[in-house]
Amino acid sequence: MPFSRTQVGIVGAGPAGLMLSHLLHLQGIESVVLESRSRQHCEERIRAGVLEQGTVDLLIKTGVGERLKREGLVHHGIELRFAGRGHRIDFGGSGITIYAQHELIKDLIKARLDAAGQVFFDIEDVTIHDFNTTNPTIRFRKGDAQELACDFIAGCDGYHGICRSTIPEGVLTTYERTYPFAWLGILAEVPPSSDELIYAYHPRGFALLSMRSPTVSRLYLQCTPEENIANWPDEKIWQELRTRLESDEGWKLTEGPIIQKGITGMRSVVVEPMQHGRLFLAGDAAHIVPPTGAKGLNLAVADVRVLARALIKFYSSGQTSLLDDYSKTCLRRVWKVQRFSWWMTSMLHRFADDNPFDQRRQLAELDYVTSSRAASKSLAENYVGLPFDDSAL
Ligand code: FAD
Ligand code: DHB
Repeated sequence: MPFSRTQVGIVGAGPAGLMLSHLLHLQGIESVVLESRSRQHCEERIRAGVLEQGTVDLLIKTGVGERLKREGLVHHGIELRFAGRGHRIDFGGSGITIYAQHELIKDLIKARLDAAGQVFFDIEDVTIHDFNTTNPTIRFRKGDAQELACDFIAGCDGYHGICRSTIPEGVLTTYERTYPFAWLGILAEVPPSSDELIYAYHPRGFALLSMRSPTVSRLYLQCTPEENIANWPDEKIWQELRTRLESDEGWKLTEGPIIQKGITGMRSVVVEPMQHGRLFLAGDAAHIVPPTGAKGLNLAVADVRVLARALIKFYSSGQTSLLDDYSKTCLRRVWKVQRFSWWMTSMLHRFADDNPFDQRRQLAELDYVTSSRAASKSLAENYVGLPFDDSAL
């Protein structure tokens, strides 16, 4: 069996795996990224689109933010719309950047390959071994069976990956909540009908207006988890969006050709701890947030920032203290982001079993959040991203 060696073996070329490999490379630490899908698939997969200020700052500081700076759309607020009226939440000087996840993936893959980084696509049958020893290995097939020896394994293979499920039973505790709804998302070739994102609460359910560029809109509708996309012809989608986003203030939704549509389930999941021996889980492999807070991608980047710093310390000084604290450090942020994502989801969606009391309470919460300076500041602080306490990365 062909045999090779690296310092950090990374499973998965999503935002977590690629960013980790990039951060390690900048400090002279070698890694190999193994990805099961093709490069084209990774570069075209439509997913998230909102980058926190801290994510953007890190990308720029580490030299992968050039296109993001040119093409990203910087926003300084969002609108919460309910009872036919819009209410702006101002970010107070900070900002978010709209930049599609697959564009970021293209930038990261290019940066790694330009630096002669080892990122391998179309890899089959990845298995991880001996991560409870100081000599972990990753076995896989790329044509023939191969073995990669490493000092550490980073499980960045998303929620359906193999790393988390390889950890022996009894080690991890899973904390989980599923929601009785999903999101139907579309991409449309039409200029966004608003300069900023609109999160709408409506008796028929939640709707979100987002965008990808000055000519492409991204919109979402709350639907049931069992919904079949085949039952949603374009006109029905626009009709429902018009209804849920309606405004008494003369605003109009611009419609156009739908170029992509799909349904995404919603859940909150955290596994603890995020580490076992020399295996470190990062991003969706360790946690899932419902998309209402726009946090999944940002949280994945936050995890690998912590992991990169810990590995850099280990390789420069032999000290394992930051590695030992990896899970604890990440989970403090993870749970705050879980709380925010759950709160935004609960405030803005209709629940099948809610009653008129619950609906009045939701409206009161929206009224409070949009009229209290303290409450809107708290939403803004979480939405643009909680601060990092590290200055090293
Ligand atoms: P991923 O991006 O999932 O990357 C994991 C990688 O590992 C993938 O490339 C996968 O192919 C690879 N992999 C899996 N198994 C193996 C294996 N056995 N061997 C090798 N490689 C493997 N977040 C938002 O904030 N807003 C959104 O609108 C939004 N929309 C989403 C829509 C969808 C359909 C999905 C699935 C997620 C969405 N998210 C959204 C969440 C966000 O995209 C994720 O949080 C983010 O991608 C997490 O990054 P990651 O690197 O941890 O995982
Ligand atoms: C987008 C996705 C989100 O989950 C969100 O809260 C805001 C925007 C988007 O895809 O643009």
